[in-house]
Amino acid sequence: MCGIVGYTGRRVSSEVLLQGLRRLEYRGYDSAGIAIGNGDSLSVVKRPGKIKDLTEAVPDTLKGNYGIGHTRWATHGVVNEINAHPHTDVSGKIAICHNGIIENYMALKEMLISEGYSFVSETDSEVIAHLIAYNYQGDIAAAVQTSLPLLKGTYGIVCIHADEPGRIIGARNGSPLVIGVGEDEMFLASDTTAVLAYTKQAVYLEDGEIVLIDPEGFKIVDAANREIQKRIDTISWELDQIEKDGFQYYMEKEIREQPESILRAFQGRLNRDAGTAHLGGLNMGPQELINLERVSIIAAGTSYYAGLVGAYLLEGVARLPATADLSSEIRYRNPVVEKNSLHFAVSQSGETIDTLFALRELQRKGAKVLGICNVVGSTIARESDGGTYIHSGPEIAVASTKAFTSQITVFYLFTLLMARMRHMSWDQGLEFINALESVPDKVAKVLEGTEHIRSLAEKYSDAKNFLFLGRGINYPVALEGALKLKEISYIHAEGFSSAEIKHGPIALINEETPSVFIVPDDHLRDKVVSNMKEVKARDGKVIALAVEGDAEVAAIADDTIFVPKTHELFYPYVMVVPLQMFAYYMALKLGRDVDQPRNLAKSVTVE
Ligand code: F6R
Repeated sequence: MCGIVGYTGRRVSSEVLLQGLRRLEYRGYDSAGIAIGNGDSLSVVKRPGKIKDLTEAVPDTLKGNYGIGHTRWATHGVVNEINAHPHTDVSGKIAICHNGIIENYMALKEMLISEGYSFVSETDSEVIAHLIAYNYQGDIAAAVQTSLPLLKGTYGIVCIHADEPGRIIGARNGSPLVIGVGEDEMFLASDTTAVLAYTKQAVYLEDGEIVLIDPEGFKIVDAANREIQKRIDTISWELDQIEKDGFQYYMEKEIREQPESILRAFQGRLNRDAGTAHLGGLNMGPQELINLERVSIIAAGTSYYAGLVGAYLLEGVARLPATADLSSEIRYRNPVVEKNSLHFAVSQSGETIDTLFALRELQRKGAKVLGICNVVGSTIARESDGGTYIHSGPEIAVASTKAFTSQITVFYLFTLLMARMRHMSWDQGLEFINALESVPDKVAKVLEGTEHIRSLAEKYSDAKNFLFLGRGINYPVALEGALKLKEISYIHAEGFSSAEIKHGPIALINEETPSVFIVPDDHLRDKVVSNMKEVKARDGKVIALAVEGDAEVAAIADDTIFVPKTHELFYPYVMVVPLQMFAYYMALKLGRDVDQPRNLAKSVTVE
């Protein structure tokens, strides 16, 4: 949420910053700006709109070789040029970009106004520029250091001063910042995608750390100005993974990658000889695993729905009491951490602040929290007590798709591991492995049939409301189907357990409100079929996701999307993919900005 980039070196910095901002645009895209140092002055260019609007506004003559840039997701203040970052102090010599929220900005603003500083924007961030100016005595690093303890809230900040050419100061507290280490050039960015075109060497900053970069290198200090030595990591992603690869939108590319991304999530983690799974990063010995009495999963959005699938598996298959909770809720709920319990924090980005804060709160209560993350080196991955990467590869589209199927894969693996330690026989373990190994081909088969899904999306594109209904392990899939549709097509959609419609939602049924039913051939099928009939009896239109050959369901439904037959526990994979494609085609038909839907941003780093 909000993307920050800084560059100092030999290149034309505006080009590096604009390219970096294009990579970071998925973090926020309502306005953007850059500040470039040239001689002893700064030039600032800002625009409401996308990075392409900013790019058009940047003159070819802007040639300085250090600077900072920002792409915004508005929190305080409407979207306009003045509120866009970078913000400058009154002299125009200091420029800052900020990601996060400064909670005490009003008090600081009043103090600074009483000292004669004047403000131009409605943002909380502008206060940082003036505060640094207030504390500036000829050393920008020292001024930032003095200012930071006065800020309450979260921040990732980059800052430059026109009188100190080539130097950029970065600081983080709750919002990510990474150093890109080049040869005779250095970078700062919210995430590594912004620097990948130039370097694969990265240093991840921790909360409370402050960095000074110049073309020769970097120096990291803590709040007490003690120097910190840190490891330089190699970024595992390749540049071509963050390209669109001929697709119109990242979202379609990412949906279609799922046969491979699911495979990557379980590859090398299954042991056929032992009929079980192994997850090295758990950092738990067999005895600790055997002693487990409870699992609790925390996450937000799509990751939460993956967590619900996980809880269902752990309880039903591993016979381990398990719950999934919204991290935003659990954080303020004063949760009980039971003995012999294990917590999972699930997060694609590894930066979602609700999940990060919930993780910290649980750890303060003595919990062991493992991360299930995609982004290597992300804050949740680093702060958790171990965990597992899902290896989806970069997910750029704001709507999460391939991360969901990889996250649930980790839960399938952990369930297998736990079930085998408890009551599951070797045969049953092998059956589970066979079912999991068949998933990529089944998902590939679903993806061959997407033209039919496109025609259905077009047929129903006038509908203003949708219901998504499923049961058991597919209930979270219904929730996810509704979330995907609403976030990228802006059509109102709700997901329910189909058993619940009689308790209220059935009042919404009429000819204009289609219901999408998930109907696997599992132990709940007949009950779902009855719910379909109840909807049909009230003139509701029904789109069914049914198993190939299920003529009864096809006869009841107005339209049917067939999916390949699979083991009854594994239907979430083949059911969620058509729903992702349905949302995608609907958004396409309605002319939406599929990858960057309105009001949203990937990686939600503010509360
Ligand atoms: C939905 C979506 C969001 C995220 C949620 C959690 O398509 O992208 O609901 O799933 O913001 O994000 P992570 O997984 O990065 O913690």
